[in-house]
Amino acid sequence: MPDPFYQLQWQLLDHALTKHHQTELWICQLHCAVPRIAGNKWLKLKYHIQQIQQHNKTGILSFGGAFSNHLLALAAAGQHFGFATLGVVRSHAPDPANPTLRQCQELGMQLHFVSPALYKTKTEAMMLDQLQQQYPEYLLVPEGGTSAAAVKGVAELPLAVTPAGKADLLCCASASGGTIAGLITGNVDTAVLGISVVKDASLPQKIMALLPATTDQSLWQLQPERTSRPYGKFDAATLQTCLELSLQHIYTEPVYTGKAIHTLLQMLENGELAAHRRIAFFHTGGLQGLAGLKYRSLINDEHYRQLTGTSTTIHL
Ligand SMILES: Cc1ncc(COP(=O)(O)O)c(C=O)c1O
Repeated sequence: MPDPFYQLQWQLLDHALTKHHQTELWICQLHCAVPRIAGNKWLKLKYHIQQIQQHNKTGILSFGGAFSNHLLALAAAGQHFGFATLGVVRSHAPDPANPTLRQCQELGMQLHFVSPALYKTKTEAMMLDQLQQQYPEYLLVPEGGTSAAAVKGVAELPLAVTPAGKADLLCCASASGGTIAGLITGNVDTAVLGISVVKDASLPQKIMALLPATTDQSLWQLQPERTSRPYGKFDAATLQTCLELSLQHIYTEPVYTGKAIHTLLQMLENGELAAHRRIAFFHTGGLQGLAGLKYRSLINDEHYRQLTGTSTTIHL
């Protein structure tokens, strides 16, 4: 049954590299009735929201960094559906000017700040037990919203069905692994490529742990993004790709989606995707992060306007 809460928008990328390599690169955007839950966020949250009732809870507690797309989406979902939200934030102290956390609070999310060292223990049973005791009325959802419930939601996305026919490669940016695990689970006969935007050597194992035992492991792979920047940072070429995409009204940020598309184009250029003719790329959202990049002066005002489609002048 179609999900009335979202709509898919498909765009075929017009790019010299895709033309040269006779490859179609389809970008699939998921627009949500509540815009802050766009991209992969709604798919990862929907079954968690169902679980609140099943587990007799009144809200969701989850984890994220100070500019977390996931926490903001959760806060927006809480406000829309009427459940409480609590964000455990990796940050020493509250910063009232942080645009992501300010919006989280405006949407009613309660914030709990923990030091980066303590945050590292977020998946350890002791920390989780402690939090569950402290907040018994909340359902605990892991960082990035990644869990079996998230995989189930993402698996419902009909990403292989492009307007031109069936894709032979599905692609997305990967961080906590829930999105790619959902794409693999929902598309058992299609190859899936995740572009890892984090430096996490354990990511393949984390993804494997989310997959059904019957999964054909040869059909999916993870590739590192090709700049040597740490998570959250990016190079001028990645930003340039994002600016070029915006000219086709494909709005991206350079930390997840823009970085992944940039890597995909590099792989195409290097002949690493020669066998694939029709690629479907899942645009996982995250545009709210652009405000945080501007706030930290990682992009300037004009970049921000162009990347969000609010510019009247175009600079490349
Ligand atoms: C915009 C965006 N794209 C991609 C991802 C990566 O998804 P996942 O954590 O499920 O691998 C995230 C993180 O959740 C994200 O916020």
